[in-house]
Amino acid sequence: MRETSDQACQLRLRDGVIKVQDLRIKKSSSLKDLPFFDPKAELGFGTHFTDHMFFCRYSESKGWHDAEIGPYGSLQLDPAASVLHYGQSLFEGMKAFRRGDGSIWLFRPQFNWERMCKGAQRLTLPEPSQEVYIEGLKKLLEIDQRWVPPLLGTSLYIRPTLIGSEAFLGLRPAKEAFFFIILSPVGFYYAEGNKLVKIWVEAKDVRASEGGLGSVKAGANYAASLRASMIAKKRGYSQVLWLDSKHEGIEEVGTMNVFFVFDDEIVTPNLNGSILPGGVRDSVLQLLRNSGLAQGRMVSERRITIQELTERQAKGELREAFGTGTAAVISPIGEICGEHQSFVISHESGPVSTSLLETLQGIQWGSLKDDFGWMCPLEEL
Ligand SMILES: Cc1ncc(COP(=O)(O)O)c(C=O)c1O
Repeated sequence: MRETSDQACQLRLRDGVIKVQDLRIKKSSSLKDLPFFDPKAELGFGTHFTDHMFFCRYSESKGWHDAEIGPYGSLQLDPAASVLHYGQSLFEGMKAFRRGDGSIWLFRPQFNWERMCKGAQRLTLPEPSQEVYIEGLKKLLEIDQRWVPPLLGTSLYIRPTLIGSEAFLGLRPAKEAFFFIILSPVGFYYAEGNKLVKIWVEAKDVRASEGGLGSVKAGANYAASLRASMIAKKRGYSQVLWLDSKHEGIEEVGTMNVFFVFDDEIVTPNLNGSILPGGVRDSVLQLLRNSGLAQGRMVSERRITIQELTERQAKGELREAFGTGTAAVISPIGEICGEHQSFVISHESGPVSTSLLETLQGIQWGSLKDDFGWMCPLEEL
């Protein structure tokens, strides 16, 4: 692919973390055809990629350097790169929305940048500076903005990724890293669309354990989850309900945090170190606590075991269950099944998950007031 233009713009100097450097922009000469922006049919999730990507290198001696936006394409990675051997890999998931007036808005970009920095600390990778992360993202979105789909249920999914790139086989943190951002227009995350999902309780594999990587978005957590997810899918379940390493405490669901609505209480597992602190989880807690959506119920972040859930469901106290996440938004759970339990919670989305979804989407799409300051217009990024 031939590059047609080559511009330069300055990144700001901040706290001496990075030196002033040029962001090179090489635009693609052959733009792709846009897919049909339908939430279900053609768009799906994570199969289309935009024309460009952002890329930046880190080395101990130079810090972050060689920031570039260029045509979407392969990375050049040494076969000895640490990510390929010791799994130094971390990513984020964010979304941009196109509102009715054509403007583009992001949901809590600062939250995701901060979470990536915490993840980088855990994986001993260099933290991408705010300039590299946010300004790289802003410029990339400006260039590829025709890819932000306009229909409710669609959005532009943003995947910032950080990997150890140093070619060195001794076991120690990489001294060189790549940070890149790719974009993908998406529709519904689940094949079911916006219908209820069925969840399989995993009683053998463990995704993450205390002291491990569960609280950060490390690629390794997802590698650990694939076998059970694949078996669950073969059994007809969309995702796995993960338990702690003793197979007692409920942790999270596939790529979502999980909430249970009982008669008197709404419970989500507390952030115990092995659960990802989700941005949507945090937003849902704020909505439940501050805008009456809990309908008078107590809102708890606490340990909840699969045994308690099963017993309270048997007593008829479980009204709703739902997952929360950037990709799946609010996803009502219809059925929970495992080796030791099997129950239907509901055949339709309940009032709490329905009102949360409507409120969150209203805030994201601009039909409801954003009292929490979560939305950021592209030009103010
Ligand atoms: C394991 C896991 N838990 C929870 C979440 C939800 O996090 P967020 O709301 O930030 O998307 C995700 C998705 O990113 C995830 O992969």
